[in-house]
Amino acid sequence: MINSELAGGILDINLSALAENYRILCAQAPASECGGVVKADGYGLGAGIVGQTLYDAGCRTFFVALPAEGAKLRQVLPNVPIIILNGFFGDGSLYLEHGLTPALGSLDDIVRWSDFCTKTAKQKLPAYLHVDTGISRLGIPPHDLPKLQELATQIEAIDFKAVMTHLACADEPGHDMNETQCQNFDDVLNALPRNLKNLPRSFANSSGIFLGPDYQRDIMRPGVALYGANPTPDKPNPMQDVIELKGKIMQVDTLDKGTTVGYGSAYVTSRKERIAKIAIGYADGYPRNLGGIATAAIGGKRVPVVGRISMDMLTVDLTDIDEEISRVGDYVHLIGGGVPLDEVAKAAGTIPYEILTSLGHRYHRNYLGGA
Ligand SMILES: Cc1ncc(COP(=O)(O)O)c(C=O)c1O
Repeated sequence: MINSELAGGILDINLSALAENYRILCAQAPASECGGVVKADGYGLGAGIVGQTLYDAGCRTFFVALPAEGAKLRQVLPNVPIIILNGFFGDGSLYLEHGLTPALGSLDDIVRWSDFCTKTAKQKLPAYLHVDTGISRLGIPPHDLPKLQELATQIEAIDFKAVMTHLACADEPGHDMNETQCQNFDDVLNALPRNLKNLPRSFANSSGIFLGPDYQRDIMRPGVALYGANPTPDKPNPMQDVIELKGKIMQVDTLDKGTTVGYGSAYVTSRKERIAKIAIGYADGYPRNLGGIATAAIGGKRVPVVGRISMDMLTVDLTDIDEEISRVGDYVHLIGGGVPLDEVAKAAGTIPYEILTSLGHRYHRNYLGGA
């Protein structure tokens, strides 16, 4: 862990808010199980500590993308199903050693996993059946589904735990694709071989949970909402903020009107301005295209991010801020403290997922509270 004195910024990660967000999502669908998606190192926040906190809050099913992520999470969570969303990679040994459950998303995955079960593991091992209902990403595509009937022996060799599919447009509640996928999922379920028909169903990601009961089904798979992003983008955010990103003021200069600031001299002061140099840049995951667009906050007041974002620093205009609270060594909020994560993502032309998973490793990370 980097000492806060030596770091350019502080990343506060509020584990109490994370746990509360888990409970908020559970409350949306009390009859469903709510899992937790902790891939990409817990959306950048630390899969181990995030996983432990969710477990303490009651979460009992975890999803990651890759087997190596699952193996790492297993060290923290010895007794829960860990589903590998991207399917079956490698020779299977990592899955067996760490008790990982692949989401089998192709006929080939099913054949290889059943071979592994019968020939190597010599036992039925768990798996999810992943079907595609319209996202055309992972999942058995519709044209391959009838062929499942020919794989009766292979299916028999696997301990299928659930059938899942993934929504393409859940964050747009009015999008036709949601109903289409809902209907497609029901059609697929009806057409499945008899021994797969009654498996628990897993459909909803964060936004899907807010589309209502047709989408919540048996096992929900929220990710980004746990970490504080708004799963209902057209409405107020029902989630609590989990992260605060604060950049350290390294220097403050009072510049005359007409002074150029930063690379490309992209900013020119329009008056006598107090310009602060903040020790966070695009190498820390603060998007370069936010230069001249974003605002930060100090003492609850917004301040413009001016000039270009450099690799390791950025500049803000503190002219309208009381000097008492904006000296060298004080901190400026880049996310949180009145600057919503979703707003930062939108201003950068991206999504909160990308902001979270790009947070660098040069911050001093403060994990606060717990479940
Ligand atoms: C298959 C699958 N399920 C669930 C999730 C979680 O989605 P979200 O972060 O939107 O809740 C993801 C994330 O991309 C995913 O790929």
